Amino acid sequence: MWWKNAVVYQIYPRSFCDSNGDGMGDLNGITSKLDYLKNLGVDVLWLSPVYQSPGDDNGYDISDYRAINPEFGTMEDFDRMLSEAHSRGIRIVMDLVVNHTSDEHAWFCESTASRDNPRRDYYIWRDADKDGNPPNRWWSAFGGSAWEWHEKTGQYYLHLFSRKQPDLNWDNPRLRDEIFDMMAWWCEKGIDGFRMDVISMISKPDGLPDGRELPGGFTEPACCNGPHLHSYLREMNERVLSRYSLMTVGECPGAGIEEAVLFTNPARKELNMVFQFEHVSGSRKASARYDKWDRPAMSMPELREVLSRWQYGLEKRGWNSLFLNNHDQPRCVSRFGNDAPRYRTLSAKMLATCLHFMKGTPYIYQGEELGMTNACMTDISQYRDIESLQTYDFLTKQESLSEETVMGYLQAVGRDNARTPMQWDDSPNAGFTSGHPWIDVNPNYTEINAASQIDDQNSVFFYYQELIRLRHTLPVMVDGRYELLLPDNDQIYSYMRAGNGTEKILVFCNFTKDPAPLPMEISEAFGCGASRLIGNYPDLPQGKMRPYEALAIYIGMKGNDDEIQNEQKNR
Ligand code: GLC
Ligand code: CA
Repeated sequence: MWWKNAVVYQIYPRSFCDSNGDGMGDLNGITSKLDYLKNLGVDVLWLSPVYQSPGDDNGYDISDYRAINPEFGTMEDFDRMLSEAHSRGIRIVMDLVVNHTSDEHAWFCESTASRDNPRRDYYIWRDADKDGNPPNRWWSAFGGSAWEWHEKTGQYYLHLFSRKQPDLNWDNPRLRDEIFDMMAWWCEKGIDGFRMDVISMISKPDGLPDGRELPGGFTEPACCNGPHLHSYLREMNERVLSRYSLMTVGECPGAGIEEAVLFTNPARKELNMVFQFEHVSGSRKASARYDKWDRPAMSMPELREVLSRWQYGLEKRGWNSLFLNNHDQPRCVSRFGNDAPRYRTLSAKMLATCLHFMKGTPYIYQGEELGMTNACMTDISQYRDIESLQTYDFLTKQESLSEETVMGYLQAVGRDNARTPMQWDDSPNAGFTSGHPWIDVNPNYTEINAASQIDDQNSVFFYYQELIRLRHTLPVMVDGRYELLLPDNDQIYSYMRAGNGTEKILVFCNFTKDPAPLPMEISEAFGCGASRLIGNYPDLPQGKMRPYEALAIYIGMKGNDDEIQNEQKNR
């Protein structure tokens, strides 16, 4: 269970570091930054896909699971990165995208060759209905029907994502054999785990029934948490995962707490943890026609309600993953904090405090440790993401929304916000590439960059370093129970982590730019001999919590240092 103490760092390879000047990040670029990551203190790197791919969805459309995309380098480059990471005590988790492949994968080429090809059944094929329409009205995540007509063989194939991402048919045992073999092949190479892309969607319900109505005559594909999902995962666990010492995290759209328990309860032998999306889906209090695009932002009390429900819900029954952003989500400081220059650093640290003291395994998305902000793209030609581009077309053309409205949606929640290049220094293109980057660098790189932060004790980077160090040294931060405090406070999100003895951590985070009356709990704690663990102001609050102030305090016996170090070694 080494992953319970670990802090994970997500790398989006295209945008991390370009070693050869072609404008795309690559594996040698990652290797060159391992010392930076070691210095930050993270234990695990999760790499978004680096496999061979035509790149329709930036690598989430894989055409060969056992080959590296030449844009990222070679298999030798990969092996070197893996061994260099291992020699620094850093583990590598690979993205496993097996709900679908690319339409350029050899399996799909065979599947489309003829109706009686032995691999026909690796994908999901259906006849047209009597009027020639697709078998149901499912909408693809990136726009339009989830069914594509294949003229040559006269049937439709299913793609929950782009046309170039046909869904695999997990009900076929031969397909499962091939996937498990491929996973074992990577494990034999020495990788340390898998992040499983939309794994909650692999088992399609019988009869493929329509879901909730959506605009344009489509419905939501009703295929999260399908009938055989857990039996397939148990099979995967028995045949592959249990044979290695791995960390596994399933990306699980549509998972609530009870599903998450099914995935992550150790007795069930499925996965270690899941990514759930309730807290990053916008406010559920208002109805929205275009879901993520026109859904209002979530308020702090709503965020607190969701996160607390997950903290209590998985206590002793499963394990949480903790994240506020990733390559599909806007930057957390822009979404939940305040990215105006005056508050950016403060609110980035406040959000980090709030998340990292919770129970679960924290994930840091590249650049989050610098307080990187949303992109500020003002023209559609700057966007690269297939979801943003297709949504732009659909909303402006078919739904006749104004350019201004749609650009506003993309600026707030488009996925390219998180995909602008990592800001290494203040040289041209933020030191990401010596060439022309595949996507524009955020112009604020002259202010926000790694070089200016690594030696600055007041930087966001320094603060993350400290949070990671605390997690590695304070067992109560890993094992303690979560208890919500001040549930009715509109400004301050506060909770406690309680160990078995008297050991406790209290966390107070002011989510607003207004001062907030000081909770009594803070002065009471100091009255009982508490000590300040970390905070984003240099001194303790007096009378009020200041704008975006965060404070974590420690009560009780600190563990013996030797003991902690031994524990560290044994992980
Ligand atoms: C996941 C990935 C996302 C991708 C989709 C289809 O949600 O995180 O980037 O587009 O799956 O593979
Ligand atoms: Ca490159």
